[in-house]
Amino acid sequence: MAIIAPSILSADFGYLNQDIDLINNSEAGWFHIDIMDGVFVPNISFGFPILEAVNKKAQKIKDTHLMIVNPDRYIETFHKLGTNYLTVHYEACTHLHRTIQAIKLTGMKAGVALNPHTNIHLLEDVITDLDLVLIMSVNPGFGGQKFIENTYKKIANTKDLILQKESKALIQVDGGINLDNAKKLTEVGADVLVAGSTVFNAKDPMQMIHDLKQKAES
Ligand code: DX5
Ligand code: ZN
Repeated sequence: MAIIAPSILSADFGYLNQDIDLINNSEAGWFHIDIMDGVFVPNISFGFPILEAVNKKAQKIKDTHLMIVNPDRYIETFHKLGTNYLTVHYEACTHLHRTIQAIKLTGMKAGVALNPHTNIHLLEDVITDLDLVLIMSVNPGFGGQKFIENTYKKIANTKDLILQKESKALIQVDGGINLDNAKKLTEVGADVLVAGSTVFNAKDPMQMIHDLKQKAES
């Protein structure tokens, strides 16, 4: 079973309620919510007022991807706003183990994201603590970028590590996902596929979510 997680970064913010309803009524499993601070990544997405509105209306798992420095400062706020999965970047956390424990202490699921240049073996000592590993298949910061081909090998390595360490972590992939790569991604071990522009730029986003899921599970 593949989980499709539309990224609301590519939604139409003038009609946000409409796009959230679309996801609620679709075959998507999760909402993927990107928070960017303009420091860790060269872009700013949105902050707590928008997140609060999204989380109130969203009726599925709320998966928040933090592309921010010092994420520890805001863990409790994300929890209060109804976040289910909170993912921080390996590259943004000096004390990653402490950050993971702090997320889990709130009752949220903990994820760690890796930039394309960061090797999966750096997670060897925390993989059993994780609920999710997010493999970035583009450099974070923007929607609509081109998928990096090395990702397939990296997912396979992640799967090996998870099996070897008997971790229960799900493997999520984020960036440049479309109908051409969805099947191969799940074949090599991905559990959750994030898709922003592929879903929201489609003529019929609801149908696209269906098609992505079909491909991923074929
Ligand atoms: C990029 C974000 C992604 C983005 C994906 O930094 O983390 O979640 O929304 O967008 P697409 O699917 O268009 O590459
Ligand atoms: Zn993301």
